[in-house]
Amino acid sequence: MNQADLDITRLPRHVAIIMDGNGRWAKARGLTRARGHEAGARSVRLATEGCRELGGIESLTLYAFSTENWRRSKTEVNTLFRLLSKHINLELDNLHKEGIRVVIMGRREGLGARVLSDIDRCMEKTRNNTAMTLNIAINYGGRTEIVDACRAIAAEAVAGKLAVDSIDEATIAERLYVPQTRDLDLLIRTSGEMRLSNFMLWQASYAEIVVSPVLWPDFGKAELHRTIVEYQQRVRRFGGR
Ligand code: FPP
Repeated sequence: MNQADLDITRLPRHVAIIMDGNGRWAKARGLTRARGHEAGARSVRLATEGCRELGGIESLTLYAFSTENWRRSKTEVNTLFRLLSKHINLELDNLHKEGIRVVIMGRREGLGARVLSDIDRCMEKTRNNTAMTLNIAINYGGRTEIVDACRAIAAEAVAGKLAVDSIDEATIAERLYVPQTRDLDLLIRTSGEMRLSNFMLWQASYAEIVVSPVLWPDFGKAELHRTIVEYQQRVRRFGGR
């Protein structure tokens, strides 16, 4: 495939990526897992630029740290948060210049003061940008997100502000972490794994899933384009015929 196969009039409006394979990439080179994550952080820039350059992608959502990732060693968890803070600080001016709005998606409880202040500064500075939204899922779990929405709905119902009979899909969608986000069109997972891993369970209902064999640190613009071409070859039926 070459880039000419990509139809820029039919781009997915919301792309999400489960970035996988940093550890295997490092192991294959005799490097530490930390080096794999550092290399993965560089791919974040390429994927963001790649989506922004295409023009019609409204949102890119990246799965950076799941509620299950706390089970990794303390050293690896610290490395991941250090990298997140570093990357956010390093990229902030460039993201802002490119008109990208950054939104962090996930539970704030459990995050350190340093990462919270970096996140808040980044969201505040970029909040009025309109070229593209970059959602970064940190301390995120799809089930936790739905639980949190249910808690909010129950609290409103108990307070008499919401009638139980009026609860519908929109009621839940409006109480997810980033309510204004559209459902996913294209969900990419790298490194050949074919799992959802608790990612955007609600929003992925009708997503086209494209599995890339490439390990995340090797994922660049060419492979991004290839996954979009694969998406464009699918016929989306949304349950119809
Ligand atoms: C999966 O690889 C990757 C992660 C758990 C973390 C993703 C984080 C980054 C790319 C670093 C920084 C992120 C941002 C947004 C700046 P893995 O460790 O599960 O790989 P393996 O399955 O090969 O072991």
